Amino acid sequence: MRTQVAIVGAGPAGLLLSHLLDRAGVESVIVETRSREYVEARIRAGILEQSTVDLLRDNGLGERLDREGDVHRGIYLQWPGERHHLDFTELVGRSVAVYGQTEVTKDLGRARDAAGQQIVYEVADTAVHDLETDAPFVTFTRDGETVRLDADVVVGCDGSFGPSRAAVPNPQTWERIYPYSWLGILADVAPSTDELIYAWHPDGFALHSMRSETVSRLYLQVPNGTDVADWSDDRIWSALSARFALDGWTLNAGPITEKSVLPMRSFVQQPMRHGRLFLAGDAAHIVPPTGAKGLNLAVADVALLAPALAALVRDEDSTLADTYSDDALRRVWRCTHFSWWMTTMLHTSTDPFDARLQLAQLRWVVSSEAAARELAENYAGLPIRF
Ligand code: DHB
Repeated sequence: MRTQVAIVGAGPAGLLLSHLLDRAGVESVIVETRSREYVEARIRAGILEQSTVDLLRDNGLGERLDREGDVHRGIYLQWPGERHHLDFTELVGRSVAVYGQTEVTKDLGRARDAAGQQIVYEVADTAVHDLETDAPFVTFTRDGETVRLDADVVVGCDGSFGPSRAAVPNPQTWERIYPYSWLGILADVAPSTDELIYAWHPDGFALHSMRSETVSRLYLQVPNGTDVADWSDDRIWSALSARFALDGWTLNAGPITEKSVLPMRSFVQQPMRHGRLFLAGDAAHIVPPTGAKGLNLAVADVALLAPALAALVRDEDSTLADTYSDDALRRVWRCTHFSWWMTTMLHTSTDPFDARLQLAQLRWVVSSEAAARELAENYAGLPIRF
């Protein structure tokens, strides 16, 4: 097989890249180890930054998002006895949309179907080759047969455990493993709040998010190594009720339809390019979930990469391709800092001094307009090139 851009990974980064390349007149083929059903059902965060919403809309992907997504003006920050609203629209003139990554992935899949995009699902043994030449290629097996996919460029959108990241020789890497995890649930119950609640509590952080008028998404800070089997539905609802407790407010409980434990880490690998291999999304960086930056960062990478690759393969102009890694990493590090900052401000440790610092910082964020604006600017998201 031959194409202009070989994309490894059919998650949101790979699908969006093929969509943007197609609009620029560049052909691509995507290979993916999982099945389409698995990729489309994979539950991830559900907050789209303003720039992500704008990009999806501008590229013909906003129709269902505009119909079913819910625009949120801000968030609530809470600690025992107090809940405060931060209004991003007032603070920075930007907002966010609540729309699950699963839905973004389905919309992208449908748009790719309509365009006749070639996506090869359920491949094995994917490997990338000859990256330092002008004729790189990808090999994989499918139904027991080995396939070779030749391309001008290979893009790794295959996450942190895929073969692309590992194919970059001697990268610089940075990692922080946090000493806690999240227990996430989906429940068939109307959200008990109009906008997300981020709650600091001595028992641990809790987050009330949502997916629709009838589906709530909630998270609890739990110790690393937690087994979901130890968390009955009753135990989950009572822990959530305790952490969100506020006079005159009640948390609606309902049937839990999904339960899982998420480890939390920060990771950055640079550069995001090696010869004719480019990395985008989780293949180059991981953020802890607090602040919901993962998908938005992947979208921003791809928004920079698509025009860079189009210029490279169509016009043999490497100017943007040569600055891609540095351009993307500037934003990656900004979001890495923001995600780390939100995480460390909100998750309880065993240190009572840390707790006092966190409470002082939370009070500062809701009482100083400058501090509130800083959170709002980062949460609602920076322009793609900031
Ligand atoms: C969600 C996840 C997050 O990490 C976050 O900060 C906000 C929302 C979510 O899954 O809805």
